[in-house]
Amino acid sequence: MNRGSFNTRLGFILAASGSAVGLGNIWKFPFEVSNGGGAAFLIMYLMFCFILCFPVIVSEIAIGRNTKKNAIGAFEKMGKRNWNFIGKMGVLCGVLILSFYTIVAGWVLGYVVEMVSGNFSIADNFGVYVNDTGNVLLYSVLFMITTAFIVSKGVEEGIEKAAKILMPSLIIIIIILIVYALTLPNSIDGIIFYLVPDFSQINLTVAGNALGQAFFSLSLGMGMLITYGSYIDEKNNIINSAALITLTDVGIAFLAGLIIFPFVFSSGIETQGGPGLIFQVFPKIFEDLGPLTGTVIGSTFFILLSFAAITSTVSLLEVPVSYLVDEYKVERKFSVWIVAFIILLIGIPSALSQGKVAYFSEFITYFGHDKPIDFMQFIIDVSNDTLLPFGGFLITIYVSFVWKKRNLSDEISKGNPSYKGSLVEKYINFSITYICPLILGSIFILTFLNKFFGI
Ligand code: PFF
Repeated sequence: MNRGSFNTRLGFILAASGSAVGLGNIWKFPFEVSNGGGAAFLIMYLMFCFILCFPVIVSEIAIGRNTKKNAIGAFEKMGKRNWNFIGKMGVLCGVLILSFYTIVAGWVLGYVVEMVSGNFSIADNFGVYVNDTGNVLLYSVLFMITTAFIVSKGVEEGIEKAAKILMPSLIIIIIILIVYALTLPNSIDGIIFYLVPDFSQINLTVAGNALGQAFFSLSLGMGMLITYGSYIDEKNNIINSAALITLTDVGIAFLAGLIIFPFVFSSGIETQGGPGLIFQVFPKIFEDLGPLTGTVIGSTFFILLSFAAITSTVSLLEVPVSYLVDEYKVERKFSVWIVAFIILLIGIPSALSQGKVAYFSEFITYFGHDKPIDFMQFIIDVSNDTLLPFGGFLITIYVSFVWKKRNLSDEISKGNPSYKGSLVEKYINFSITYICPLILGSIFILTFLNKFFGI
C-alpha cells in the first residue's frame, strides 16, 4: 500500500515547522513568558529547545525514516515490541491535545468573524463567549472539518500543499504586524519587559513550564516527528532539517513576543497574562486603533492564529490516522473522518469546562492544592506538561540504550556523509545518553510531584 511521502525537502521542513508553529507560539508562549518573569523564561526556554529538545527531534525523525512507520508501528518494526508503549502513549497524548486544541482553535476562528464585524466589545464578554457552547462547537467543528479535509488528501497533496501555502502567508502576516507594533507609542517598554531578564523569577515551576512549553511548541515527545519522518527519503539531511525546524519554531515564538508585548504595553492595560491574554486584552487594543485600522489589524491577527493552528491540527490528526492506515490497513479517508469525529466528542467536556457545566469547570483538585481546576486545564496538564516531556525522556533512553547510538548515527549519515566523527555527532550522542535523560527525567519528576501532589 502506498503510504505517501513528502515530495520535496522544503515541503517536509514547512510541514514539520507548520506543526511546531501553532497556538503554542502565539497564544500560549506570550502568557507563559509574562507569568514566568519575561526574559528569564525566554532564556530558559531557548536553552531547553537547543540543548534538550534538539537531540530528541533528531532521534524522532531518524526513527521514523529508518522504519517508514507510524509512531507505534516504528517500535515494532525495529523489533522492540515492548517499547511500543512509547508510541501508544504518544498517540493518546496527540488525541488529548487535539481535543482541546480544536476548541481553542474554534474560539480563534470565531474571533476572526467578530473582528471582521468590528465587535471589539467581545473582549469584555469573553466569559460569555466561551460559554456560548453552540457557537463554540460550530466553529470547532468547522475547524476540524478543514483539518480532516487536508489530512484526507494525503501527505503530498494535503499536508505538504497546505503547508506550502500557509507557512509563507503566516510569515508575511507576522512581519506586517511586527512593523506595525513597533510603531506604537511605548512599544519599547514592552520590548524591555520581554528582553531584559529578571533572574529572581526563576524557580522550579517556571523551569517546568518552560520545559513543557518547549516540548509542546516543538510538537515533541508524542511521535509526530516519527510520523512525518517516515515520509522522507534517505537523501534528507536530518541534522539540517531538525535545525531549520527548531529555528523556525523558536524564531516565530520570539517574533510573536515582539508583536504581543508592544501591543500590551502601548495599550496601558494591566494584565496578569493567562490564557485570556489574547482573547480579553487584544480586542481592546484593536478597538483603540480606531474602527478601520482596528478591524484590519484585528482580523489579520486572528487569521494569523488560525493559519498557525491549522498546520498543527493537521499534524496532530495525522499521527493516529497514520497508525490506523499502516497497522490496520484502514482506508485513509475513512480513518480521517472517524478519528476526527471521536476527537471532537472527546473535546466537548473541554468546551463545557469554562463555566458552563460545574462538574467540568471544577473538575479536579490536585493533592496539596486548594483550588479545583477545569477539565481543559486538566487535559493540558496531563498531555502537555506530563506526557510530552515523559515521552521525550523515554525516547532518549530508547535511542541510547535500546536502539543504540551507532544505529542512530548510521541513519543520520545516510543523508549526511560527514556526520560520523563530527562534533555534532559527539554532541548528540553525549546529550542523548547523559544530559537529556538526566535533566528531562529530573525536571519531569519534580514538576510532576509539584503539579499533582503539591510537593
Ligand atoms: N506545536 C504546536 C503548537 O505550538 O501549537 C502544538 C502541537 C502540535 C503539539 C502537534 C504536538 C503536536 F504533535
